[in-house]
Amino acid sequence: MSALVCPTIAAVREAVRTAREQGKTIGVVPTMGALHEGHASLMRQARAETGYLVVTVFVNPLQFDRPEDLARYPRDLATDVKLCERMGAEAVFAPSAEEMYPGELLTTVEVTGVSDKLEGEFRPGHFKGVATVVAKLLNIVGADRAYFGEKDAQQLAVIQKMAADLNLPSRIVPVATVRERDGLALSSRNRLLTEEQRRVAPALYRALSAARDRIQGGASPGEAREAALAALAATPDIQVQYLEVADAATMQPVERIEGHVRVAAAVWLGKVRLIDNVLVG
Ligand code: PAJ
Repeated sequence: MSALVCPTIAAVREAVRTAREQGKTIGVVPTMGALHEGHASLMRQARAETGYLVVTVFVNPLQFDRPEDLARYPRDLATDVKLCERMGAEAVFAPSAEEMYPGELLTTVEVTGVSDKLEGEFRPGHFKGVATVVAKLLNIVGADRAYFGEKDAQQLAVIQKMAADLNLPSRIVPVATVRERDGLALSSRNRLLTEEQRRVAPALYRALSAARDRIQGGASPGEAREAALAALAATPDIQVQYLEVADAATMQPVERIEGHVRVAAAVWLGKVRLIDNVLVG
């Protein structure tokens, strides 16, 4: 089945309006393209739960804290559209930067607290860029359900809080992280790894999982964190940027376990930055 590729806000709104008139529920999967099986898993779930699936493909300049990262972000819309079609998407919203940001942007969305620690400490302005573009995308599409990956757990928490605080009409649906056989979480950045870096990369997920197991065995967050850091320190080529045990909703580091927590980390392998997390409990 072919998908309707919409380069403008007017076009995607018209497509959604028509689908609504036919009584369909609308699902949206926001992405920055370079689509892989992780994105496909979001689409699969959206496809199963809604009657009209819109995938958005937009490399959002507002959320890149490093210009070189934006410049080398992979872009291949034709390939992305094919994957969306294979997953049964009805429409692909692929706007230009001018369509999304036509003039001076004087309104932004900032979710304080949830955005501050972990990624927020090392990527200033990143979550403001994410929250702003996601608020715009959800307003443009007006979907009933919007799907986000647990791979980016803090992003998910930021979006959940924003949607609740601003009464956004889309229900935010989390989707489990898709991994390679060896545990490495799928990411468009994995293709930038050298063969040797790719070989050691699964150490990140192993360390996070070991920390989770320790906590489940009764260890404190501090003990689990130290053990995971020690394991990663012994892995050549991996530099840890942060590794924290944090509350899953507030994303504040915790010293005692209450409710759901995540063990989350960011590491550098050469020039490639990888993030991952596991849920405890
Ligand atoms: P992007 O990195 O393209 O990711 C789009 C969605 O796919 C996000 O919700 C992300 O968590 C999910 N995803 C990525 N890898 C995954 C994996 N291995 N398993 C499961 N889900 C995975 O995240 C963004 O784009 C942007 O910040 C965006 C929300 C689109 C705003 O610009």
